[in-house]
Formats: sequence, structure tokens, C-alpha cells
Amino acid sequence: MYRSFFSTALSRFLSIALVISGLLMSINSHAERIDNFVLLDHNGDAQNLYYHQDASAIVIMIQGNGCPIVRNALTDYKQVRDEFESQGVKFFMLNSNLQDTRSAIALEAKKYSIDMPIMHDETQLIGEALNLVRTAEILVINPKTWNIEYRGPINDRQVYERQKQEASAHYAKDAIRDVIAGDTVAVAQRDAIGCLINFAEKNGAHEQISYTETIAPLLQEKCVVCHTDGGIGPWAMSSYELVRGFAPMMREVIRTKRMPPWHADPHVGVWKNDKSLSIEQTQTLVHWIEAGAPRGEGVDPLKGLSIAQVEWPLGEPDLILELPEYTIPASGVVEYKFPRLANPLDTGVWVKSATVIAGNREVVHHILAGSIDAGASAEKRDSGVFDNYLIGYAPGNESNVFPAKTGVYIAPGGEFTFQIHYTPNGLESVDNSKIGLYFHDEKPENFYRQDVVINPIISIPANTARHPEVSYFAFDKPALLHDLVPHSHYRGVASKFELIKPDGSKELILSVPNYDFNWQRTYELVEPKQIEAGSKLVHTTWYDNSTANKSNPDPDRNVTWGLQSWDEMLYGAFSYTLVNETTEAPIHDKGLAQLTQYFGFIDKDLDGKLSWKELPKRMKKQLVQGFKAVDTNGDGGLDIKEMYNIEKRRAAKQQEAAADAR
Ligand code: HEC
Repeated sequence: MYRSFFSTALSRFLSIALVISGLLMSINSHAERIDNFVLLDHNGDAQNLYYHQDASAIVIMIQGNGCPIVRNALTDYKQVRDEFESQGVKFFMLNSNLQDTRSAIALEAKKYSIDMPIMHDETQLIGEALNLVRTAEILVINPKTWNIEYRGPINDRQVYERQKQEASAHYAKDAIRDVIAGDTVAVAQRDAIGCLINFAEKNGAHEQISYTETIAPLLQEKCVVCHTDGGIGPWAMSSYELVRGFAPMMREVIRTKRMPPWHADPHVGVWKNDKSLSIEQTQTLVHWIEAGAPRGEGVDPLKGLSIAQVEWPLGEPDLILELPEYTIPASGVVEYKFPRLANPLDTGVWVKSATVIAGNREVVHHILAGSIDAGASAEKRDSGVFDNYLIGYAPGNESNVFPAKTGVYIAPGGEFTFQIHYTPNGLESVDNSKIGLYFHDEKPENFYRQDVVINPIISIPANTARHPEVSYFAFDKPALLHDLVPHSHYRGVASKFELIKPDGSKELILSVPNYDFNWQRTYELVEPKQIEAGSKLVHTTWYDNSTANKSNPDPDRNVTWGLQSWDEMLYGAFSYTLVNETTEAPIHDKGLAQLTQYFGFIDKDLDGKLSWKELPKRMKKQLVQGFKAVDTNGDGGLDIKEMYNIEKRRAAKQQEAAADAR
């Protein structure tokens, strides 16, 4: 009797203790922090989780194609979104499915009218780290702490193969309300109801990944050009010990797509100088890091590794241009430099290739080099733009060899011009960079030509997060496109180049969803793109002029075109050859190309003709009476040919007047 009382008391005490410790556990499980990541969504746009640090809450639904629970939960999810979006809550979906491709996700989104970004976790690394098990799970995140405050079903409306008309419990809404109010979410976790996700690599023996045979060679291939002694990377991958020390940081920069610094969407185009990590390489590297970066057996391939530095990899140049000496401070921001050198040659030359040698590889971030012809205006000479573009240097991209049998003609006179970007590295230093040019012995068969798509009348409103500006270049002759260089400044966040063909069909050629001003890249096509006459090369850039853009110099300014980095540009350079051209019989019409550039930013609806409404004021004044007369085909708009005729007539009149005056 006595004994039994005692044991009942004890067991009651124990059960209370269990309940309390259970409660503590569930409180502890609140504190699941979500590390930042950047993923491309089903539209190819970059989504950066921590960008939304000022949101009142962030909600993510785990999506998967073909899952009935997800499809049935969509209306509920949209309804939650409609209720809370106006209170500063951001809504996303995340697809970590092994089997879903981006295009399949885009189809599912279209079919089920999913009108929010579905982030595509192609490597499954984000889903693995979040311990996802099933789709249709909802994550409610508090951006003040980056803790996941709730995970589980959206509500109690669905169980497997059954659904109710109305939910009676609204788990996600309750959690969102609590997070907005700053309260603790009562139940932080419920079992998700949805389709199981196959994380094929999650339980692999990652501690077996060999540093010697797999990791070190991968780093050597993709990272060491910069991360070496005397390189531009801030630390050298010169031993296992260093790599292990930086391993968590490597995981972070890979998850956030900062490294390796290659910003093109891997689903669009194939590029010669692509130094990105493949899906498999990314998985291997991150799994190895998450397994504790084990050393394993074997020698250390990174130890004592030095990159053989051949001074001139293409041989002794025909002309070496020495850039002025610059002193780079230990820290801070160095504005871009635009030095010029008078062309020392007294005969014209055909350049076939160029190499840049960075004087101090630790601080020279990139160099663009080209020339401007004699007689350029002072404004143009100061602006760092080129008539003839020669090379864009970045570490790992030291030389530019033009397509076979083509060349860039540099006439005597004029100047070589440069754009140099320095990044201070903690020590004051001096840089003496140089560029070597190589000439054809004889006139090459064809011209390697460059043009730009620009829009000097951009207008980016203050405090706007995603403002697009567009312009195009129209090809009047068939061409082969070789490379593309999107360029904007600190507010530029994404850029793309599309081709609109004469039949109206569109093709995306280059997308840079994650544009970074620090990395001025030339994207070189492996296969030159064939362009039909009558095609338009359309260049779009999106600008983030909000406070959320950490590199924005001043979100309260309405920003217009300017050369300084606190102003903006829509500037896309590209190189091409004309299919029917030879250097013996040039057909490129410079006047027409210039007019085309101008046309491309005025023709807002991209229909290839300027309506009366689209015409700039100055032209309207000139044409008040004569619009019908110059619109020779009578279609109500001026196309490039009609505009060119006006230009030519105007030029002829000027010549006549000048002749009369003599
Ligand atoms: C083209 C040169 C280049 C390549 C290639 C490159 N890096 Fe970097 N890395 C840099 C520079 C420069 C920085 C300094 C930050 C910046 O400018 O973005 C940096 C920074 C880093 C940092 C972070 C240090 C910090 O706190 O900013 C890590 C980690 C890193 N790189 C890892 C890698 C890995 C891993 C690879 C290969 C998969 C790689 N990098 C490839 C140039 C490079």
C-alpha cells in the first residue's frame, strides 16, 4: 500500500517532468535558423532570401509538380497571400524535387495559375539543409531572426485522399499573425501532409569524399586562378588547412551564388569562358563541407601549387601599351579609371588578338580596352567608351583572340582608351598594367565589328525596387553574333539580351539574373548566333533603386544616364561579323548603325516604326507639316529607312548650304 502510493507519486512526477521537457524541446525546436540562399525561379529570375529582411514575415510553400495535395492547397495558399501581402509579408514557393526541370515547373505554374515565384533548388542542397520531407509544407520565417517559426500544413482542410469544404484550423495564418505581432507561435511544428521528396544524395557517405582526388582538383579548376598567392581572391587556396578554415564561408558564397563569380543563367546559352560549378560539383563541394571537410588520405595537391605565369601567353606582342601608374589605397572605393594613350602608330593596323597583363593581380579587378578614332569629341574621349573594343580582362580571361580571319582595324591617330576597376585589398599598392596587341600580317577576310544597344534617356524613379529599361539594335543585314557585355552601375540587378526575329518570334540569348557591377563580364558564345536581317537585339536591364539594394548610393534620387557609378546606364556591347561582308567589300553602314542605336530607345513598343506619339519633340516640330510626306509607305509610322532618308536629305542640304556659303 505504502509502496504503491510512493510509486504512483513517482510515476506522476516522472510524467510531469516528461511533459515539461517535451515542452522545452518544442520551444527549442523553434530556433531553427534558415541560412541565406539565392535561387533562380521558374521564370529565371534570381531570388535572394535575405534581401527581404524588412518584410514582416516570409512564407514559403514547398511545391512539387503532380502532387495532388500541393495542387489542392494552392487556392488556400493564394487566399493567405491575398490576406497578408498588404501587411508586408512575402510569399514564395520552393521546388526541391529531383525530377522537376525548370521548364516542367513553368508549365505546372501556367496550368495552375501560380502567380508567385517558384524557386528551383536544382542541387537539392537548400531542401536538404531545411530537412524537407514532403511537399505542400509551409515555412513561416521571421526575418528579424531568420528563424523558422512554423512548419507544417497550411491548415486542416486536407488529409490523404480526402478534403473538407472548409478548414476549421488555420495553422499558417495563425503563425503569420503571431510573427507579425512579435508573439511566439503556439505550435511550431506539425507533420506535413504532402508528397515525399526524393533527396537522392542526402544520405550518401559524404565523409568519404576524397579531398585529394575530388575536392582539391575541383578547386584548382574553378577557383585557384583567383584564390592564389598574388591573385585577386582575398585568400589563397594553398593548403588543406586553409580550405578547411574557409569551408563554412565557401558554403555560404556557393549557396548565395557569389562564387565562383559567374552570373549568367546556366539554362540560357553556352559560353566559352563559363567558369561556373556544375550541379554535381556544387553538390560534391557542399556535401564535403557539410560532412566536416574531412582530410582523408593522400597528398595535398594544393600545397606548394603555383600557377605558372607565362608573361605573354600568345607570344611577343606587336605593340605593348603601358598604362599609367596608379596608387591604390589600402581600403575604400576607387572610382573607375579611364586612362587614354595616344595611338603611337603612323599606319593603320588590323588587330587579331589582345592580352592584358595586370601589373598587380591582387588589386586589378578588371580592365576593358579599346580605341577611339581621331576627331572624337572631348566628352566622348573622357567617357571610357570605345569605337573599337578589343578586350575585357578579368582573372582567367587574360586574352581575347578574335574569330579566325577577322580583325579590328585601328586607323592611325586617335587614342587607345581603357576602363580600369581597382579593388583595395588592405595594403596600399601600385599598379602598372599593360596590354599587348597582335596584328595580322595582311588584311584579314572580314571585320570583327562592335556596336552597342544603349538608352541615354533612362529615368529610374526614386525608391523603386525593380524598374526595367529597354532598347534595341536592329540588324539590317544577316550577321553572326560572337559576344555580349551587359553593363550598368550599382543599381543594375539583372540584364538580358533577346532576339526578336522578323517573324516576331523571340529567343532569349543571354540572361544575367544576378548582375553584379563588380564583375564586368564579356559573355562569349561557343557557337556564334546566326542573325537574320530584320532581327532586333533587345537589351533589358532592371534597376533596384530601393533601400533594400545595399549598394544603392541614394534611393531618394530619380536617376538618369551618366558615366559616374552613382548615375546609371543601359549599355549593352556586342561583337559580330556581317555574313556578306569582306574587308575588300565593306557593306557596314556606320551612319545607319548610329541611327539604329538612336531608334532603339525611342521605339518604345518595339514595332520597328516611330508613331507620331513616339517621336521626340524636336522632330515633331520639324515634321509638323511633312509627316505624311516622309512616311513614304504610308503606314502611320517612320521606320529606320524612312528616318535614314530624312537624315541623308538633311545632311545633303547642309552640304549644299556650306557649298553656297563658299
Ligand atoms: C575570377 C576570380 C575568382 C574566382 C574564379 C573565384 N573567386 Fe572567390 N573571390 C574572388 C574575389 C575578388 C573575392 C572578394 C569578394 C568579391 O569581390 O566578391 C572572393 C571571395 C571569396 C570568398 C569570401 C571571402 C569573403 O568573405 O568575401 C570565398 C569563400 C570564395 N571567394 C570562395 C571561392 C570559391 C569556392 C571559388 C570556386 C568555386 C571561387 N571563390 C572562385 C575572386 C574569385
